[in-house]
Amino acid sequence: MKQTTSILALAGLISLVNAHGYISTPQPRLPGPAMAAACGQQVTNNQEADRAGNVQGQLQIAAGQSDYDANACDIWLCKGYKFADNSDNVQSYAPGQVVDFVINIVAPHTGVANVSIVNTATNSAIGSPLIEWAEGYASTETGVTEDETNFSVTIPEDLGSQCSKAGACVIQWYWFAESIDQTYESCVDFTVGGSGSGGSPEPSESSSTVPSSTATATSTSAPTTTSAPTTLTTSARPTESTTVPSTPIPTETEITVPTGGTPEEQLSWVSSLLQALLQYE
Ligand SMILES: *[C@@H]1O[C@H](CO)[C@@H](O)[C@H](O)[C@H]1NC(C)=O
Ligand SMILES: *[C@@H]1O[C@H](CO)[C@@H](O)[C@H](O)[C@H]1NC(C)=O
Repeated sequence: MKQTTSILALAGLISLVNAHGYISTPQPRLPGPAMAAACGQQVTNNQEADRAGNVQGQLQIAAGQSDYDANACDIWLCKGYKFADNSDNVQSYAPGQVVDFVINIVAPHTGVANVSIVNTATNSAIGSPLIEWAEGYASTETGVTEDETNFSVTIPEDLGSQCSKAGACVIQWYWFAESIDQTYESCVDFTVGGSGSGGSPEPSESSSTVPSSTATATSTSAPTTTSAPTTLTTSARPTESTTVPSTPIPTETEITVPTGGTPEEQLSWVSSLLQALLQYE
């Protein structure tokens, strides 16, 4: 039984080689203890070792884990990554602000993608996607194009107070590699309109976490350039060295040689090692 679990986990890791990706800028949500409490330790370990992994791979691991709580994990929202683990990392945006994104596509596979504002209480999109690719995203045939990984979105001007409280909304990048049935999600926590929400009891919450760069961008470049909220700025920028993504190296603690433990521990070690190798593909 325990071995079956590890083998399933191993199968999940193997499937990860097909595609990979996550938001690298702005700083995205990361796994942590709150995720582990909801999604289980193995699912969380898997993502801590490789945050570019896909939802279906997580579900394969979760299937054998008694500490996976599907409702609490809410795995189709931000892959189960929790606001509680990321409450110190909340961007503060202004209506109409242009926000630059960089996506790390570690391994491509043709699919569709969008970046959307999602209500975290209901896991439903607020409005239309800020940007979307209806086909051919991260194409295996033609390669990843710069506008797929380096683009800007414009924060809508009509959000009102829906996203004024930290944790209420995320900007989620969603990539579905259709042909291999793998889904990738990566989220940015943010607030908008903290000042415009008259009834908000805690205006200090968002202002205390404003990164200085964002604050500057707000005052200088916000609604001046692209004033129409519905117009999406999809600016591919001058090329530099795009395509060699810096592969996150699994932490050394993930690859510790078992001192002669149970078969499960040994299998788990093998899967860590395998995963480390796969990341260099
Ligand atoms: C983003 O794309 C996925 C996959 O096609 C789709 O299920 C989802 O509804 C899209 N999001 C929005 C806001 O359209
Ligand atoms: C994305 O665009 C910015 C702004 O032009 C540039 O500085 C950066 O090098 C680009 N990043 C990648 C990964 O292409």
